[in-house]
Amino acid sequence: MQNYLTPNFSFAPMIPERALGSRVWDTEGREYIDLSGGIAVNALGHCHPDLIAALAEQSQKLWHISNIYTTKPAQELAQKLVEHTFADKVFFCNSGAEANEAALKLARKYGRDHFGGHKTEIISCLNSFHGRTLFTVSVGGQPKYSKDYAPLPQGITHVPFNDIAALEAAINENTCAVIIEPIQGESGILPATQEYLQAARRLCDEHGALLILDEVQTGMGHTGKLFAYEHYGITPDIISSAKALGGGFPIGAILTTDKIAPTFGPGTHGSTFGGNPMACAVGSRAFDIINAPETLAHVEKQGQKLQTTLRELGDKTGVFKEVRGMGLLIGCVLADQYKGRASEITAAALKHGLMVLVAGADVVRFAPSLLLNDEDMAEGLKRLEAALTEWLV
Ligand SMILES: Cc1ncc(COP(=O)(O)O)c(C=O)c1O
Repeated sequence: MQNYLTPNFSFAPMIPERALGSRVWDTEGREYIDLSGGIAVNALGHCHPDLIAALAEQSQKLWHISNIYTTKPAQELAQKLVEHTFADKVFFCNSGAEANEAALKLARKYGRDHFGGHKTEIISCLNSFHGRTLFTVSVGGQPKYSKDYAPLPQGITHVPFNDIAALEAAINENTCAVIIEPIQGESGILPATQEYLQAARRLCDEHGALLILDEVQTGMGHTGKLFAYEHYGITPDIISSAKALGGGFPIGAILTTDKIAPTFGPGTHGSTFGGNPMACAVGSRAFDIINAPETLAHVEKQGQKLQTTLRELGDKTGVFKEVRGMGLLIGCVLADQYKGRASEITAAALKHGLMVLVAGADVVRFAPSLLLNDEDMAEGLKRLEAALTEWLV
């Protein structure tokens, strides 16, 4: 097929056409098991009937109306997010990068308004990923994503992840925010330690800085809790969310407290499509299903099963030296002799009818539907074993 799109993506050699649950079919009619979940987006699998109904119903009522007005779906989704988290207020946008952009702008303005013009510095972690806008690639700790776009926004310091001493040394009275992914996603499904996030909370409090948790990938049930911060016994000041928040429909959000939210007074920030009624109606229905105790328990149970079987497969084939992550957000770290070859494995898996992801060059990532059933999991693992066996020859 002729490609009319800019070449910044390397598309797979098949074209998905339709999907249901954890199965996808391409334009040739070949079937795939999807354990990638559209990169942690399709939290309820593909074409969930309740989301189709929510979308269909809202599409008969109101598609777009602008932020001159609020709408019932936007208020309803915001209320659910507030009632089930630390937050009091929500700002809606359309993607993870936009959510982080909003979080960072909010933190800078909060620092300036409450402490003065010196309080603008942001601390972020090496190897972190926060999106592709100029601000978020600059805050992200992977220079390969920012180096071609200089001059970059200033006042950003990067410290090693999970290194309390480094954070302690970097934070000072000029720091307005520390931004951390509870599990570094794109760079290898690397969870923050309890001590690290707790120290980050303490250090932010000591220096009057805001703690922003980027929950774009870890949020909305993937770790077995609604948001990953709940595993850590801390309360952040701001979290960013996107990906699974819309169950496949584009939406992003930041959640924050009544103390901080007034910084975003009228006219200080905005988005034409943010809070779009279609996105919020789907997100609201997705929220109900994701946040149901039985869904979160299912994630926990299936996550354990998937991790255990992947560990067994790693031992049997020698391909994986470690399986890590939480719930159904899982990374398989390649054994030293296969370092740098994760994309060969995802390509081999695709040939065998399985969609999985890389997370950096050394990790194969799984972020399947939170509703993944035993049959699809078993079939996916069977195809993975066949792919690995062939790849090893
Ligand atoms: C932790 C994290 N933050 C931000 C983003 C950017 O989200 P988006 O691609 O929706 O802008 C991603 C995307 O992979 C992510 O994993």
